[in-house]
Amino acid sequence: MILLTGVTGKTGGETAKQLLQKGAKLRAIVRNEAKAAELKAAGVELVVGDVADADTVRRAFEGVDKAFLTLPNGRNQEAQEKQFTDLAVAAGVKHLVKMSSMEAVAHAQTPIPKAHWAVEEYIRAAGRASGIAWTMVKPNFFMQNLLGSAAGIKANRKFSLPMGNGTTGMADVRDIAAVCVEVLTGNGHAGKSYEITGPEVLTFHQVAERFSAVLGAKVEYVPMPTDQFRERMKNVLEPWHLNAVCELFREIAEIGLDHTTDTFRKLMGREPRSVTQFIQDHVALFR
Ligand SMILES: NC(=O)c1ccc[n+]([C@@H]2O[C@H](COP(=O)([O-])OP(=O)(O)OC[C@H]3O[C@@H](n4cnc5c(N)ncnc54)[C@H](OP(=O)(O)O)[C@@H]3O)[C@@H](O)[C@H]2O)c1
Repeated sequence: MILLTGVTGKTGGETAKQLLQKGAKLRAIVRNEAKAAELKAAGVELVVGDVADADTVRRAFEGVDKAFLTLPNGRNQEAQEKQFTDLAVAAGVKHLVKMSSMEAVAHAQTPIPKAHWAVEEYIRAAGRASGIAWTMVKPNFFMQNLLGSAAGIKANRKFSLPMGNGTTGMADVRDIAAVCVEVLTGNGHAGKSYEITGPEVLTFHQVAERFSAVLGAKVEYVPMPTDQFRERMKNVLEPWHLNAVCELFREIAEIGLDHTTDTFRKLMGREPRSVTQFIQDHVALFR
């Protein structure tokens, strides 16, 4: 039995879907049962509750041998993920797979990568102390983040993000989930950290060129000053989260990414999806 969190979200949802296609036996912790109705109908056992609630997680861990932990960024993420780790160890779970991020490194400067790194270190220490196996899945920027710009691209052929001329090696969530599925169902992944990118390093101006090519009409990327982004999002994200996102985006704008990885290719034996493919697959939302 595999326990998953976040199945009503992007990475957890896609991972659950692909695991079901492989016939895996799944249980998921969900806050809102209605949002997970399709997964329930497809055979996923639901435990309704919050991951912050230790009793819910304890109940969910009964009879589980592998767990997939993905939670959204926020001021409580680190504490919730550490508690989840403790409870996994206590329940005798054999393998814990954590959704982290490529920016999560020992010298991380900004809150989200720092929190991921702190949890990674906590899980590695738990592994040394208890023997629980672990795998870190560390993707770069999600292509699916571009869906947030779909309305603007559709209406004005423009999108605006506070990423300046920064670069990412963005990866498709469907490919990231495929790696998670391989880790959860295959062998030889214990003690590994997998940095996942797509096939190319691109600025957002170059992403706009990809949109132009697929849509057959010029699409423009307009860098947004961070202060403007902060103002626009102040009623959407709580202050800790908004500040953390602004700092992460500033880091992308100032430093960015200078390489792709071949992790996906090596694990999956095929090419990761490109931005062009991503746009083609979602063209109705952008055109
Ligand atoms: N976006 C990127 O470019 C990027 C890149 C690298 C790494 N990451 C990492 O990916 C992770 C986010 O993954 P995602 O995009 O799949 O998240 P997401 O789409 O925001 O989904 C979050 C999921 O977690 C559930 N959840 C949130 N709080 C919960 C709680 N207290 N108890 C139980 N369930 C809870 C949500 O349930 P509800 O439906 O009830 O809200 C939802 O199913 C983050 O840790 C982020 O750092 C993101």
